Amino acid sequence: MDNGGGRTRGILLAGGTGSRLWPATRAVSKQLIPVYDKPMVYYPLATLISSGIREIVIITTPEESGQFQRLLGNGHQWGIELRYAVQPRPEGIAQAFLIAEEFLAGGPAALILGDNLFHGVDLRPFVELCDGLSGGRIFGYPVTDPTAFGVVEFDDLGRVLSIEEKPARPRSRYAVPGFYLYDSEVVPIARAIGRSARGEYEITAVNEEYLRRGALQVTVLGTGTAWLDTGTVADLVRAQEYVRAIDTGQGTKVGCVEEAAWRAGFIDDDQLRELAAPLLRSDYGSYLLRLLHAGDRVGPREQLLTALD
Ligand code: DAU
Repeated sequence: MDNGGGRTRGILLAGGTGSRLWPATRAVSKQLIPVYDKPMVYYPLATLISSGIREIVIITTPEESGQFQRLLGNGHQWGIELRYAVQPRPEGIAQAFLIAEEFLAGGPAALILGDNLFHGVDLRPFVELCDGLSGGRIFGYPVTDPTAFGVVEFDDLGRVLSIEEKPARPRSRYAVPGFYLYDSEVVPIARAIGRSARGEYEITAVNEEYLRRGALQVTVLGTGTAWLDTGTVADLVRAQEYVRAIDTGQGTKVGCVEEAAWRAGFIDDDQLRELAAPLLRSDYGSYLLRLLHAGDRVGPREQLLTALD
């Protein structure tokens, strides 16, 4: 389709067993359980849409694919194109590139993990860069305990020195969030690294290979941005509380797919009104209508800049 966007296609990885949340996720995908007022998958999906990406493949377990399709459909209601693919077993994050090889059609890729929540981060300029440049770009986010994540060490110029997966002794306090941008080399790289000792295609091994080639950039996400991973019960509760605080305090929704599509210009006012209609018994629907009454489509940052003019 002529998507009016860039070449970069999105992969939303939403498989896995969710076993760290059992029994809550025994019979339902982790990425379908709610984070405050909407399913977890809405958050990464809204992030991809806000980044200007219109063609997205959602990778799930074979058993759960139908539920995701029922929830999200073909994406046309949001002016995007959603495809579905399955990962038969959770054999690693980087396997996503092999599963999505045909969908990527030799172009660049943006991978987002289905349990990652970003807020206040404008990833669009990085996706636009990814459309035309070669190499890979990952992000760094300061956390108090990096041992649960990929950890990136970099010098003052932003050059990456090392990346380690869940190191016992982290060399920096910068975790690598689950949003990754790569050129078309990512598919052959993922294939070449193969499975690790624990039987998984490791995303950190992909990043190490880009680093070895001198083709990996890292961008630090600053204070004022939020990145939350929802892998454990404690993380999930923290994410719920964060979303609730923004919702009740500011009256702004985090991870609202309809709003992201409307702000990106993928749908117009009438389409937003139509999407709101069946949701009016919950606050979610009235929120969508309030967006229309607020009168404009610019984001909070642009509003601030306008106010300062
Ligand atoms: O959240 C960011 C972190 O995500 C990174 O800092 C780490 O480098 C990266 O390895 C990953 O670590 P996690 O321990 O959080 O990964 P987890 O196994 O929880 O999987 C993350 C998401 O990806 C989750 O939504 C399930 C999905 N997934 C994971 C694997 C391994 C799949 O769909 N298939 C898989 O095979």
